[in-house]
Amino acid sequence: MDKRKIIIDTDPGIDDTYAIVAALTYEGFDVQGITVVAGNVGLEPCVTNALGIVNMMDADCLVYPGAPAALNKLGKGENFALAKMIHGESGLGTVQLKPDLSKKSETHAVDFILETVRENPGEIEIITLGPLTNIALAIQKDRETMKKVKKIWSMGGGVRFGNRTPVAEFNYWADPEAAKVTYEIGEDVEINMVGLDVTHKTRFSLEDLFFLRVECGEIGSLLSEMSNHYMENYWKYMRMTGVVVHDLVAVMLAIDPDLSNEDDVFKRVNLSMVCEGICKGQTVVQFPPTDIYEEEGPKNANVYMGIDNIAFKKAFFKLCFPEAYSMYKKYILK
Ligand code: BDR
Ligand code: CA
Repeated sequence: MDKRKIIIDTDPGIDDTYAIVAALTYEGFDVQGITVVAGNVGLEPCVTNALGIVNMMDADCLVYPGAPAALNKLGKGENFALAKMIHGESGLGTVQLKPDLSKKSETHAVDFILETVRENPGEIEIITLGPLTNIALAIQKDRETMKKVKKIWSMGGGVRFGNRTPVAEFNYWADPEAAKVTYEIGEDVEINMVGLDVTHKTRFSLEDLFFLRVECGEIGSLLSEMSNHYMENYWKYMRMTGVVVHDLVAVMLAIDPDLSNEDDVFKRVNLSMVCEGICKGQTVVQFPPTDIYEEEGPKNANVYMGIDNIAFKKAFFKLCFPEAYSMYKKYILK
């Protein structure tokens, strides 16, 4: 089969780790490189974590360090490491992965993205799992090249609610200007927003995490262990048991968009970003039915709103832990 050419842009991050594990395992993807942006923790620990994931997966791709801060904070010596509370000091809860330093590239993430798209016009899909700073910088540097990206799958935003503020999701809240710049190419490039509306339709239960720990080998056990920290926060802040593995939803949908029904996706709608004030980071999506208001602006996004949680989890376990899959289905899946 012809493999799809993928760049993963990420700020690892516990849920980023699940997502990268799935993307690197899927045979239909040829992962060209992993570009890193600061977000959950600072750029350096995010790069270290990405190098650790590549090592754990024994993957044959390089890690490209990118932006250390949001667009309007670049060069001001202010780094962002905004979600330590959720992802822990290292970014991976209590887990420290051993980085493979030989996989760290000297090329900046933005240059790598542009070079790869230039060499493969119309073929590159970018999966973004963190703030959109690297993507926006690439667009600002060479917009025409970025218009030749095939698709973007972006975990971020939320139509009906937020998680960093009542109306804003973390990744887009962390750099709303970058999200704005990115969606400005959405008429030329298909951008699929995988936001909180869809990610919160999924959940890894306590049983799922237990099963990962005891039946899914070293990788499953590490994923489960890093999720403990995450899980405690879900309980503390949301009174929810288990975890929502946001970034994994973006990767699984990129692998198989049919995990969502047609009715679960707002196709070709207008999305605009709020960059300032109390609603900073909010995604305003003009979704149907639009008869009650005048639609404005370009149709620059597909917005995923729903997914089948069971199908999603089945797909993940089958892909990443095929040997444990039948036991998972028989004893755990609910
Ligand atoms: C997003 O924010 C980050 O903390 C997660 O890694 C995910 O990308 C969810 O809002
Ligand atoms: Ca992330």
